[in-house]
Amino acid sequence: MAKSSIEWTEATWNPVTGCTKVSPGCRNCYAERMARRLQVMGQPKYVDGFEVPIRDLDLEITGVRSLENAGDTESLTLSETGANTGVFAGSIPRQTEVQKAKDSGAKVLCFASTESIAKRMIEYGADALILEGSEAGGHIGHVSTAVLLQEILFEFDSVPVFVAGGIGTGKMIAHLVLMGAAGAQMGTRFVLAEECNAHPRFKDVFIRARAREAISTPQYSAKLPVVSVRALNNHAMTHFGELQLELIQQLKAGTIGRQEAQYKVEEYWVGSLRNAAVDGDVEHGSLMAGQSVGMLRRVQPLRDILQELVDEADRAITDVRGRLA
Ligand SMILES: Cc1cc2nc3c(=O)[nH]c(=O)nc-3n(C[C@H](O)[C@H](O)[C@H](O)COP(=O)(O)O)c2cc1C
Repeated sequence: MAKSSIEWTEATWNPVTGCTKVSPGCRNCYAERMARRLQVMGQPKYVDGFEVPIRDLDLEITGVRSLENAGDTESLTLSETGANTGVFAGSIPRQTEVQKAKDSGAKVLCFASTESIAKRMIEYGADALILEGSEAGGHIGHVSTAVLLQEILFEFDSVPVFVAGGIGTGKMIAHLVLMGAAGAQMGTRFVLAEECNAHPRFKDVFIRARAREAISTPQYSAKLPVVSVRALNNHAMTHFGELQLELIQQLKAGTIGRQEAQYKVEEYWVGSLRNAAVDGDVEHGSLMAGQSVGMLRRVQPLRDILQELVDEADRAITDVRGRLA
């Protein structure tokens, strides 16, 4: 896996895209939202927010190669990478960014965690959508997959729609396809691939976890907004709640400013996925996992996981055929 200057992604393997994230790609990942907040807070490093010169490398490239720090020094177009598909992962691109990617000749996939975002992405020219329900691991929206299926998959037929969030079996994939999905995106299940280089302790926690332990980060006051992340409950999660409650008290008492309080919330999780997934600190790091974690029982070679998914999907389709005959 290639190195990245983004600490929590450099050692995180994303089996769905087969791509490591590097700084330009991360502009379209979770970090963008945080950087905008840090900019508002006046942090010197973020004085320009993410308004670096827009590079053509604003994408996470699917399945072709990693684009190691290229955007820091040069301008690469998507077509130069050899990739023909780009995914704006984890954030909502601007229309100009979607257009720029398309101008490179790529097909562009955009995430949608609400109906209105789906509509906007289609208007921007997205070639396909990935609807992601709140059951998913990592940074999430607030709407469940079941509702998004009805709001997006059943409503928008001008582009292919892939489904993510809570999918753990091939049977589920088959039924999503029968509902009209173009395919499925899975993350949590692939953490338990042998090839995933997450720390063994990180994987052990996944094996033991139940669905209900994959919780979304709490937010206790609209004055102290929190970006939702679904992760397994641990000391870090509990302490995050306590920190917010303390900060809210301090805000009420006027002993801390809003910016400083927000900064403390934002900085709390910085580097935390790395702590857990790379260093194996499963109590103080972030154990990003979706609710499908409850279905996972063992580490398997990637080949076996994929074979199992395909077999389960095949059986489900045969079963449905039989029932309709
Ligand atoms: C440990 C972990 C790390 C993830 N990191 C990223 C990421 O860096 N960028 C991203 O777009 N999605 C990330 N995701 C989300 C996945 O790409 C995928 O959309 C999601 O896991 C699908 O839902 P599921 O977890 O229910 O399978 C991550 C998910 C997990 C479990």
